[in-house]
Amino acid sequence: MTEISKIAFARAGKAPKGTLIAVAGEGLKFGKRARELGLDALVKKAASVADFSAKPMRTLDILAPGGSDFDRVVVIGMGNPAEMKEQDWVRLGGVAAGTLARGSAGTVLLERPDDAGLDADAAASFALGAALRSYSFDKYGPTKGGGSSKKPPAEITILVEDPGKAKAAWARSLAVAEGVVMARDLIHEPPNVLGPVEFAKEAASLKSLGVAVEIFDEKRLAKLGMRALLGVAQGSSRPARLVVMQWKGGKAKDNPVAFIGKGVVFDSGGISIKPAGGMEDMKGDMAGAATVTGLMRALAGRKAKVNAVGVIGIVENMVDGNAQRPGDIVTALSGRTIEIVNTDAEGRLVLADAIHYTENRFKPKFIIDLATLTGAIIVALGHQQAGLFASDDALAEKLRVAGDATGELVWRMPLSADYDKLMDSRFADVKNAGGRWAGSITAAQFIRRFVGDTPWAHLDIAGVALESPQTETNRAWSSGWGVRLLDRLVADGYEG
Ligand code: BES
Ligand code: MN
Ligand code: ZN
Repeated sequence: MTEISKIAFARAGKAPKGTLIAVAGEGLKFGKRARELGLDALVKKAASVADFSAKPMRTLDILAPGGSDFDRVVVIGMGNPAEMKEQDWVRLGGVAAGTLARGSAGTVLLERPDDAGLDADAAASFALGAALRSYSFDKYGPTKGGGSSKKPPAEITILVEDPGKAKAAWARSLAVAEGVVMARDLIHEPPNVLGPVEFAKEAASLKSLGVAVEIFDEKRLAKLGMRALLGVAQGSSRPARLVVMQWKGGKAKDNPVAFIGKGVVFDSGGISIKPAGGMEDMKGDMAGAATVTGLMRALAGRKAKVNAVGVIGIVENMVDGNAQRPGDIVTALSGRTIEIVNTDAEGRLVLADAIHYTENRFKPKFIIDLATLTGAIIVALGHQQAGLFASDDALAEKLRVAGDATGELVWRMPLSADYDKLMDSRFADVKNAGGRWAGSITAAQFIRRFVGDTPWAHLDIAGVALESPQTETNRAWSSGWGVRLLDRLVADGYEG
């Protein structure tokens, strides 16, 4: 797994060496220990020259004069700590880590300018943001520029009043960070390296955390009757896999919550082939599956008191003499027949079988599927919010709340009988693509036909998972969107 910043907590002691990062309230208001270190006097002049008044997330970077213990001071504006929410602390930590070069070390004086105690969760959130910001996927290069990418991420020490409490809270957040990093790594990995078999092997590594992992090969999938999933994979020389991950941290008799991920390791479009421009991005068409895997890692890593299953369908959508054709009709695991009218609408075929299998076997409390499903959702919502489709208002609302808390935002889209009608086929129970309009909605209506009575939500993450916006906490191509969102959903509504 890609290395991220190591984070330690310590009590404020004597002035640290190297880079000192201090946070300040608006109007350049420092906390007690920063004042004791003489920081207000030290930065006053530089602040006035740079017109820096410690507005939230703004930074002031100055060299310390000779004779100071530290050689560089960075001040970060934090706003009013009484009004800061979890995500504000996460972003603040991201800004802090962003000021530190790889291979360096930084010490953060984390305290409130109003001299009220800082709670441990705020410190852990700050650390989470710092850790996520330090991620970069550079295992294959570029290697030019003296190989600076080989330097490890900055080491960060956070000075707080009660390091014991902060450490305990951080252990939990670190598990979440590792889940996000796992998802990011899987998404960035090139498709020649990460095929279905290799992906399944990565998922199997969660066994070491106590996750039960089953891997179904093609023989098994055929025997079960997953013809919709297998049809997508039949044009690839690399065989399909379905992986079932179970984390049993809840009461033995409790029905689990279920997460399903689209894992298309590469989507060429198949016979309905995609245009060449940007096709390389389709290495990330397994982001849904990566998110589910990262989430299972987070839940297991922090020993969540919940029963959770993660099911991922992993295939490659390619073109050869055995590839699926437009016009083919396949019978899904549920018994429904599907007319393939566009081989590029492949993700929903994989989900149809994975969802039916999961609902039938586990009788879950809810099903949430994640998929880089449609280009149309990027047209509608851009890279800022995921499309949310739900059969259940309460589940949709819980996702919205978790989204607001983590900054992984979801926007609800409609479902209705009128849209559903657009998926009727002349020759089978359903066709796999609607017309030109409302492409994300018709895709969701397709999936809807394969879900029974279980509360269900579908997240179309084509926009948010790939080409992610560059934020305080992410500088990579993929942010690993969704791991934090779903971890929060579980933590707030389904544990204990
Ligand atoms: N994986 C794509 C969707 C996608 C596009 C994800 C761009 C990320 C970035 C999906 O399999 C697909 O090809 N969808 C088609 C559906 C259409 C053929 C009905 C689309 O969106 O064009
Ligand atoms: Mn496709
Ligand atoms: Zn796809």
